[in-house]
Amino acid sequence: MCGIVGYIGKKEAFPILIKGLKRLEYRGYDSAGVALLNGNMTVFKKAGKVSDLEKIVDPAHTGANIGIGHTRWATHGEPNDRNAHPHLSQSGDLAIIHNGIIENYSSIKEELTKRGYTFHSDTDTEILVNLIEEVQKKEKTSLDNAVRIALNEVVGAYAIVVLNKNNPDQLIAARKGSPMVIGIGDDEFYIASDASPIIEYTQNVVYLEEQEYAVINRDGTYIIRTLGNVEKSHEIKKLEFSLEMIEKGGFEHFMLKEIYEQPKAIEDSLRGRMNAAQGWIKLGGLNEYINRINKAERFIITACGTSWHSGLIGEYLIEDLARVPVEVEYASEFRYRNPIISESDVVIAISQSGETADTLAAISLAKDNRALIYGLCNVIGSSIARMSHAGSYTHAGPEIGVASTKAFSTQISLITLIALQIAMVKGTIPTSKLREILYELENIPKKIEETLLLDAQIKEIAAIYKDATNFLYLGRGYNFPVALEGALKLKEISYIHAEGYPAAEMKHGPIALIDENMPVVFLATNKSAYEKIVSNVQEVKARKGKIIAVVHKGDTQIRALADHIIEVPETEEILSPLITIVPLQLLAYHIAIMRGCNVDQPRNLAKSVTVE
Ligand code: G6P
Repeated sequence: MCGIVGYIGKKEAFPILIKGLKRLEYRGYDSAGVALLNGNMTVFKKAGKVSDLEKIVDPAHTGANIGIGHTRWATHGEPNDRNAHPHLSQSGDLAIIHNGIIENYSSIKEELTKRGYTFHSDTDTEILVNLIEEVQKKEKTSLDNAVRIALNEVVGAYAIVVLNKNNPDQLIAARKGSPMVIGIGDDEFYIASDASPIIEYTQNVVYLEEQEYAVINRDGTYIIRTLGNVEKSHEIKKLEFSLEMIEKGGFEHFMLKEIYEQPKAIEDSLRGRMNAAQGWIKLGGLNEYINRINKAERFIITACGTSWHSGLIGEYLIEDLARVPVEVEYASEFRYRNPIISESDVVIAISQSGETADTLAAISLAKDNRALIYGLCNVIGSSIARMSHAGSYTHAGPEIGVASTKAFSTQISLITLIALQIAMVKGTIPTSKLREILYELENIPKKIEETLLLDAQIKEIAAIYKDATNFLYLGRGYNFPVALEGALKLKEISYIHAEGYPAAEMKHGPIALIDENMPVVFLATNKSAYEKIVSNVQEVKARKGKIIAVVHKGDTQIRALADHIIEVPETEEILSPLITIVPLQLLAYHIAIMRGCNVDQPRNLAKSVTVE
């Protein structure tokens, strides 16, 4: 949801900003811009991608060793040149970049208009930069204090960086509800929405906390204060990933790379946390609160998007294995629907980014009601991770493709461990069964490798159906959430309308859509409901739908009915989503490529949704 980057130091700022913006482009790609300070304030901005911005930049005017840059996911105002960031204050002295939403912008705008301010964009951001200027003028105070006072008047979410024409030796950054990292180099600083623009230059970072601002000086010093004006000192943290991990490594797209990284990502997510031979599971976060978790009367899983689909699988796993009731809630609904939450609930928040605004708000509500919050996040040090009482990182490594793949599979592998550990403590699983599942979990990466070998076959299927206008995905039991996720993958990146449905529920509606033009993807690996799913396949076949079935190796019945079969290795039914999702990710990927879509940056989407 918008990427921001800033630099102050001895180097040329422009190449650092552009490279940083490209790394942050997954957060938004509606427009991009930079402001550079070298005596004058020079601003370049353009609707479109960072590469479109590069085309209009005059290299004669990029010399500067302080600057800020922004890549936008539009909220207020359409994505055109005018609304692109940075935005200047009325005097032209201040430039600002902003990730977030100022909710009370209209009353501030009214006030500023009365005082003679005029506006040149439709954004809330331009109002903020003028509010800062007005406060500074009125209070006759330093810029950093004016930023602090102005932010105290603002309702909403932001990560901002302010550049001041009259002080080329200072940047001011602040955050509330949107992430911000400060990279500390040798007498130089990098500021960014996440560490990806920073890792190339330094591993030392400080994470700005909620409602804090930083005054960052060219002489190598910085001060962090709360918006209440209390000075803070934060530990300098070491980044735990490498540059290599955020590059494409020979793959054409991040999404494809991340699909192929799943075996390793799952191994990383399980490493040190289980041992099949010895029959143990050790999730640090869970152990810490095990008594409370054991006594929990209910689990509530809250998440958005793909993470919500992992949550559904979590519901099946926890209820199935640990016999505790589970509810799965869209964070955006949960936070506003006056839910019943109590001290005896455990709320599991699942989020790749750890920054999703609705998920954050949902856990804050649950925390206020004294529930225990367990966070499952991928991004280390993210807001959700920090807000949770306990939790586990998925350790999938940076996920750059907007459509989530390896984050999903690692979320499932971890939630499987959580369900198993609770089942162990509660005595709802025999040790022999536990071992069997753990052995099989250890085998999953190998089985995903095998599934990835089906890529060429899946590409052929993609070529046949790439022009379809609708797709239906059907599954039962553990494969129902996979059907939802498969449909989401396809619509996100290929813009084909796709629906996921419980296979048996098809006859209550979607069956009306089936004709010879409708591809129907069946997830038919369940042993427990195999005959039932065969009947559902028959029902589609009778209506001339085109059947693409994901089945276990050696399947005969569905082979006889389907137009295409994708044979995947057999596994424990409760682990099957880890395998069956892989062909669906590849199918969506190939169809999107064949339709000429930008798979890593699908239109209108963003990787990290930090607005409601
Ligand atoms: C966005 C992304 C999805 C993601 C969802 C939740 O919509 O495009 O891929 O599943 O946010 O994000 P989270 O970071 O909380 O998992």
